[in-house]
Amino acid sequence: MQEFVPYLTQIWDNKILTNNGPFHKQLEKELADFLGVPHISLFANGTLALVTALQVLRITGEVITTPYSFVATTHSLWWNNIKPVFVDIEPEFGNLDPEKIKAAITPKTTAILPVHVYGNPCKVERIQEIADIYGLKVIYDAAHAFGVKHNGQCICNYGDLSILSFHATKVFNTMEGGAIVCQDAATKKRIDYLKNFGFAGETTVMAPGINSKMNEMQAALGLLQLKHYHTNIQKRETIAKVYRKGLANLKGISFLPEPENTESNFAYFPVFVNEREYGMSRDQLYEKLKQNNIYGRRYFYPLISEFPMYKGLDSAKPSNLPVAEKIASEVICLPIYPDLKQTELIKILDNFI
Ligand SMILES: Cc1ncc(COP(=O)(O)O)c(C=O)c1O
Repeated sequence: MQEFVPYLTQIWDNKILTNNGPFHKQLEKELADFLGVPHISLFANGTLALVTALQVLRITGEVITTPYSFVATTHSLWWNNIKPVFVDIEPEFGNLDPEKIKAAITPKTTAILPVHVYGNPCKVERIQEIADIYGLKVIYDAAHAFGVKHNGQCICNYGDLSILSFHATKVFNTMEGGAIVCQDAATKKRIDYLKNFGFAGETTVMAPGINSKMNEMQAALGLLQLKHYHTNIQKRETIAKVYRKGLANLKGISFLPEPENTESNFAYFPVFVNEREYGMSRDQLYEKLKQNNIYGRRYFYPLISEFPMYKGLDSAKPSNLPVAEKIASEVICLPIYPDLKQTELIKILDNFI
């Protein structure tokens, strides 16, 4: 708290509260350096970054996406009047299965919108191969993947655009916030027009842009958070190791492997409950944890394809999404945050036995 006060004083002294103020400019620069990306545009939240990313590339018609994500992924298509086409996920990490993409492509398909679920990289090389053959754009929802590297490269440098979320629950946060990462200056310019009502000059409006600007208070918090990022990630890694060790030989409980060639951010620790082997269903375990004041999250249950506005789509049929259906019925994300104490961790693990 005390650490934030000088930033607030500075905002008052600057007398600039929003509209690309000094902290906003500084955060864009620091984040681009920190992440190792050519350009980044800050947003009021990740959802508006997603909505805008689709507009920047003029995506229309149908977009192939995953049902195993937070609703905002598909809502961004809905807001752009684009038809989502759900494709099943692969069982290893729960990301969009590249081998099932081809069968879902139609003449109306213009893009693929995969999600790096839990921050684990999608099969980016394979997805790009398919996109190149069919002339499709790729926009990654990297809301969970801040700071993640794949083969030494920021995960946000894959695809045409990537979006990030800086929501309070994320490993790096600005209370609410988000960003689009792009690869060239001309695209960044267009993104910056679109997030500011479409203004391309004092009297020029180039498109019906929305207001999705990040304000100075959010940007200041981001600058402060960045200073603590590495320490926080180390703490998360230690917690993840304790979970891995503690749950390693528990029949009916599984967790994701550590992804190869990846620098992880340890944003989530999902476990999967096989009711038959464990002797208790996922929901029974979830309730048991809750009764003991341990708040797991069923990310992602229900699948996005189960919500009423998407349920009627052909691609939303459970028979089209067997892997996603299974994983969604088994998952609980366990508490993971830098200040989680060893005593609390032991208490959580005790609940599994
Ligand atoms: C996968 C995914 N996409 C998009 C979003 C939306 O981000 P925001 O909450 O910043 O609007 C979230 C948010 O939590 C998310 O988990």
